[in-house]
Amino acid sequence: MADLRSQYLGLALSSPLVPSSSPLSRDVDMVRRLEDAGAGAIVLHSLFEEEIHHEQEQMLRFADHAQLGHAEADGFLPPADNYTGVMEHYLQHLTTLKRDLSIPVIASLNGISLDGWVEYGKELQTAGADALELNVYYVAADAMQTSYEVELRYIELLTELKQQVSIPITLKLGSQISALPNFILNLEDAGASGVSLFNRFYQPDIDLESLQIKPSLEYSSSTESLLRIRWIAMLYGRVGLSLAVTGGFHTADDSIKALLAGADIVQLCSVLLQHGPEYLAKVKQELELWLDSHEYESVNQLRGSLSHMHSNDPAALERANYLNVINSHTAAIGVKR
Ligand SMILES: Cc1cc2nc3c(=O)[nH]c(=O)nc-3n(C[C@H](O)[C@H](O)[C@H](O)COP(=O)(O)O)c2cc1C
Repeated sequence: MADLRSQYLGLALSSPLVPSSSPLSRDVDMVRRLEDAGAGAIVLHSLFEEEIHHEQEQMLRFADHAQLGHAEADGFLPPADNYTGVMEHYLQHLTTLKRDLSIPVIASLNGISLDGWVEYGKELQTAGADALELNVYYVAADAMQTSYEVELRYIELLTELKQQVSIPITLKLGSQISALPNFILNLEDAGASGVSLFNRFYQPDIDLESLQIKPSLEYSSSTESLLRIRWIAMLYGRVGLSLAVTGGFHTADDSIKALLAGADIVQLCSVLLQHGPEYLAKVKQELELWLDSHEYESVNQLRGSLSHMHSNDPAALERANYLNVINSHTAAIGVKR
């Protein structure tokens, strides 16, 4: 069998298949099943800035209340030593997973402001996180804000988090960044150990009866993986940090393409939520079979071989191929007379 061992964020992984941040990781048994299925590491569900702030407010209110000392009303509040908040829960869960698993555990922080929450990275490190994934789920909706200011926000958050922790930090980025390779180089300069491409922004829908905006969360499809594969192919060899893909990776074929483009790891989410943790074993087995049948001894051997720098048709990844693709289109039968 081909050797699947991979390096990511300086961590040694037994396989490049990694469940991305999702509710699956909330359940210890589910994470064990993912490890048994061959996951190389696990990214935990995120700890959200909003949750941390909410908890900080609750604690302040709790402290104020205790000082005021309303004996009757105190009965409605949890006793101070029973107060198990989101953060404490997360830390306990992380400690349990670190005790039970042998694969690396990557904690996830999700937020956009510089408002104190990043300090909690330190506690995640103390609880044993092998690395941190920072998801800056930011929609640049302010017309007065420049792209430079948006990018600076990422850099500042990273810099702040770097001051708190010494474990590797990777950033989960959206695709709507204008000069992506240059921005990633700047993140690398600021100390990022990796990037994960791309955050999948959930698109709010419009309800035509109530005329309200309604949230909608749909699973991805393999088609979405192509955007990620293209960018990884263009980044491979041009940046020094680790490269992960997330978004639209459902099959072994999707994963092989990402590895050929140069991804260090492939993150899976929708497919595992749809089919369960054991589906990862199927993807892994098909990856191994493909590598064997194409006479690769390891994933390292194929990694990046179809990247921009190694491809014999690099133009196919860029604008040069645009006209050819448009011209090669033929209308459906019966549409054009
Ligand atoms: C139900 C659900 C919950 C998710 N929760 C998180 C989260 O807490 N933090 C995060 O960074 N990404 C989260 N994601 C995004 C996934 O990690 C992943 O990046 C995204 O779904 C794209 O991968 P996919 O196409 O394989 O689903 C979530 C996705 C889903 C579907």
